Amino acid sequence: MRNLNSASAVVVLVSVSGGLIVGQSSPPAYVPIPRGYDTCGGAAESPCPTDLFAALQRGDVARMRRHTWNVFAGLTSVDKKSGLPVFRTWYRKCQLNSGFPCGYEVPAQLLDSTPGPFSDRSREIALAVSVNFYNQDFRDFVIHQVPGKPSTPLCDGTVLAKLKEELKRNNQIEDRKIEAFPSSAIAIKTGWRIVKKSGLTLLPVWDPNANSQTDPNGQSPVESSSGISYPKGRWSRYVAVDPTPYKGRGIRYENVVANDGLLQHVRVVPLSSFYHITPGTTDLERIKELTKGRLPSNVDAGDYLVLVALHFTTKEIPNWVWGTFWWHDEPDTRPNGFDRPSSVIGEFRNYLMNTSYGMNDPRESDGHPHIAFNPWLEGPLKGGVESNCMSCHRRAAWPLLPSSAINTTPGEVSLADDSAFGMGQLKTDFIWTLGAIDGTKNGCPVEPISTPIAVRP
Ligand code: HEC
Repeated sequence: MRNLNSASAVVVLVSVSGGLIVGQSSPPAYVPIPRGYDTCGGAAESPCPTDLFAALQRGDVARMRRHTWNVFAGLTSVDKKSGLPVFRTWYRKCQLNSGFPCGYEVPAQLLDSTPGPFSDRSREIALAVSVNFYNQDFRDFVIHQVPGKPSTPLCDGTVLAKLKEELKRNNQIEDRKIEAFPSSAIAIKTGWRIVKKSGLTLLPVWDPNANSQTDPNGQSPVESSSGISYPKGRWSRYVAVDPTPYKGRGIRYENVVANDGLLQHVRVVPLSSFYHITPGTTDLERIKELTKGRLPSNVDAGDYLVLVALHFTTKEIPNWVWGTFWWHDEPDTRPNGFDRPSSVIGEFRNYLMNTSYGMNDPRESDGHPHIAFNPWLEGPLKGGVESNCMSCHRRAAWPLLPSSAINTTPGEVSLADDSAFGMGQLKTDFIWTLGAIDGTKNGCPVEPISTPIAVRP
């Protein structure tokens, strides 16, 4: 059984939350990842790491993980001017295509109705709302595709439609594709949960090592073990988040009754151990609408949003580098948190990490193709806990076909036989955001494209 009293308590360092500066007149300017974070997706003068593909080929997990941490450290580093982690100054979906939303969404993959490894009730337990962010080079590529050739913007659906028609005759799916993004492109997906402004809010915790089908301590939010068809990982327990600073000493436990009426004996963690923000009324209303009947409690003015999940992808290798992070109350443990470098600061030290540089490698100890998923974003899906980011992203194509975005089949598959590419689909270089562009109109945002949107988050 886990030792909850172990030394690796929640790390609470100087807060970098720095919510939106209320009343500020102009939005924060776009800020790239500063120099020194080992990524070519950073400031213009940042050198590109050139050893990443070689690290994948020789199975150098330590190097691959170090790089993924470095990028995370960079995108969560604080912009001194706005006080925000730099990723929050990045572009939003609606700045890629005017038909796209700017605010919160229920992650598209969770709208799939196929029941996952958990009961329906635990799907609700794990529902997070998401917002994506894109760096300058990603955005520029979508808006212009080829620098200096403004006639080929990918944000223009009619351009995509024309390209698809032109390439339709091509039998080789690999060749029916858009140009590759530049190696400096980065996209981020964030996942957020509501924490009530007063009282304790229960939040499920994903323990990567708790793979047993039986519940050792009666604290499992899983309805019954018979509902678990994929025992490899599950929500094994809750923590309770307390927005008021705790003056006592040591680790605190409370008995809290969960939504299902079951009494939970849970560890209490401070709000300050999460990257968190206070959303405005419009955002709260939107979240209320999105999560209606799907979250354990209502959403009210003054409630907080805590970051529970973050995905990023960078085009530093042809198949992209994939990194995923989720909050944990014992963040320094193996296998997902022991190697976090000191360059990751503040609350961001409380997130575990997994990474993927390829569909298969490095293999899991039982020979299974490499697994990399986020419990909040992919965990609830059928096969999600055995998936790899690329299970879905290699199928990214335009236009979006019903449920083509959802496929958790591990290992290599023949793209030629894949239904996602029937009818001469256009491959979109692993990027799903493009799939939803309306092919009948030019949805490019009006130039000059405004600075990033300063609404929360
Ligand atoms: C079950 C399918 C699935 C899996 C597995 C998956 N994703 Fe995605 N991902 C999607 C879909 C669908 C979207 C588009 C929805 C949206 O607009 O955000 C997306 C969007 C993204 C985006 C925004 C850029 C884009 O492609 O539109 C990032 C970054 C991302 N995912 C990272 C990851 C990472 C990292 C992993 C693995 C840890 C992963 N994804 C696993 C389906 C998946």
